[in-house]
Amino acid sequence: MSGRGRGGKQGGRASGGSGGAAGGGGKAVGSARKLHTRVRTARGRKPSSTRWLQRQFNDPYVIEARRQGFRSRAAFKLLELDERFGLLRPGLRVVDLGAAPGGWTQVAVARVNAGQPAGDRTSGMVIGADILDWTDVPGALCLTLDFMDPSAPEVIQRQCGGPVDLVLSDMAAPTTGHATTDHLRIMGLAEAAWDFAEQTLAPGGAFVCKVFQGGTEDSLLKRMKALCATVKHAKPPASRKDSAEVYVVAQGFRGRPDEPEG
Ligand SMILES: C[S@@+](CC[C@H](N)C(=O)[O-])C[C@H]1O[C@@H](n2cnc3c(N)ncnc32)[C@H](O)[C@@H]1O
Repeated sequence: MSGRGRGGKQGGRASGGSGGAAGGGGKAVGSARKLHTRVRTARGRKPSSTRWLQRQFNDPYVIEARRQGFRSRAAFKLLELDERFGLLRPGLRVVDLGAAPGGWTQVAVARVNAGQPAGDRTSGMVIGADILDWTDVPGALCLTLDFMDPSAPEVIQRQCGGPVDLVLSDMAAPTTGHATTDHLRIMGLAEAAWDFAEQTLAPGGAFVCKVFQGGTEDSLLKRMKALCATVKHAKPPASRKDSAEVYVVAQGFRGRPDEPEG
């Protein structure tokens, strides 16, 4: 598939091949390098930017992500969630919402064995979607798509050839610094991601989504618990301790009940 999709909003590019640089599916981070890099202050650079750079240079996950060929340190969060919950295996169909720059997509491609030649029965499928333009991940179908577009569930199912086994969402809205606003925004994304999952998941499917500390909103949690065998929260070690993010993991989707008509 190529070119722009319906409504001019969805751009899709399929790319074959293996899981790319991080083809082995990645390894957890052990004791990376111990040396501490100090970032010099530069004229015009804000102290907050200097602190950010310093943290990037000395973060073992950033260093390891670069070494293993991952596009983001976030890749390790999915690897760690997978170790704990057994989410990814060869042959699964996965949708990664808010996928750019592509760390989670790389992990998913490697672990579900996506992008293999037709006829390989162990081959899975990964569709990554982001509202931004982003660079293809080999082995995945990479779309530029706002998942909130009403046609998004149908677009994804059409590309997938049916319902999907796993919906991932590491989505984040740009932060404002105002805690209540940021919380509301991320919870809005989580609710919309769950709604998307209800429309696209196959029975037995699973959903992983970034939420904020304090967990998932009550009404959303209730609905997820009613429709899934298990719902748990987890903070993978790769998630920064000073970050309020946690992940909700729902497994054993039972299917969406028929909505009353009218
Ligand atoms: C934290 S990044 C994801 C990092 C990614 N998991 C990785 O491993 O590289 C969050 C992404 O969510 C995307 N996003 C936010 N709102 C979106 C929307 N409505 N539709 C699609 N993507 C969205 C942002 O553009 C951003 O790229």
